[in-house]
Amino acid sequence: MTRPRLLDLFCGAGGCSVGYHRAGFDVVGVDIEPHGDYPFELTVADAMDVLADRAFLNGFDVVHASPPCPRYSTITPAHARDSHPDLLPPVRAALKAWGGLYVIENVPGAVRYMENPTKFCGSSFGLEVRRHRFFESNAPLMSTPCRHPEQGRPIGVYGDHAQDDSEYRRPDGTRRGHKAHDLDHAQRALGIDWMTEWDDLTEAIPPAMTEYIGGQLIDWLEVAA
Ligand SMILES: C[S@@+](CC[C@H](N)C(=O)[O-])C[C@H]1O[C@@H](n2cnc3c(N)ncnc32)[C@H](O)[C@@H]1O
Repeated sequence: MTRPRLLDLFCGAGGCSVGYHRAGFDVVGVDIEPHGDYPFELTVADAMDVLADRAFLNGFDVVHASPPCPRYSTITPAHARDSHPDLLPPVRAALKAWGGLYVIENVPGAVRYMENPTKFCGSSFGLEVRRHRFFESNAPLMSTPCRHPEQGRPIGVYGDHAQDDSEYRRPDGTRRGHKAHDLDHAQRALGIDWMTEWDDLTEAIPPAMTEYIGGQLIDWLEVAA
């Protein structure tokens, strides 16, 4: 049986990609940087150029995009946010112009710029991280509620290194919880076992989230066929 194909734009080292693969997709990634740990076929290119190539996009059943989030992230000091590019609108415009099934992911700070986003939380999947992320799509997406009380104290994977379990704060002083104390702990907290770079782990989406979404997309592709 042929597996549906998904293009993962801004794929990093593959947090989203692995979840979609587990759901049943064949996945191809695009990132502007080479990521040695990326586990599938990777094209190193500017995702905006790839989005302009409709013939290439037509080779996929779904296109997912995780445009960089520093502009909207609470870990970027407020005065510096405008210096980061705002790729959400041009990415959405290109995906709509293409006309296929798409998903766009971003951080809580971007939620008011997203169209009907659905919220996901690591606690819903029994993970130690919360890492709230929002996904918009032109297919209906269902989420599953946060399970913060069952999770207890969440673990963060942020900053430039692991940090011996000490508490971590945002630039505005609010608490972010406790940090993973080493690489193994960060991998376990995110449900990721193939990434060996701390920086990749700080940016990764827990694959449990896109596995959950991917199953819904496959149902939707079958309904829409
Ligand atoms: C938040 S990370 C993606 C994390 C990934 N979704 C995951 O789950 O592991 C954003 C990625 O976008 C990449 N990036 C930034 N600008 C880009 C561009 N113009 N084209 C392609 N990739 C880009 C960065 O190198 C980075 O890996």
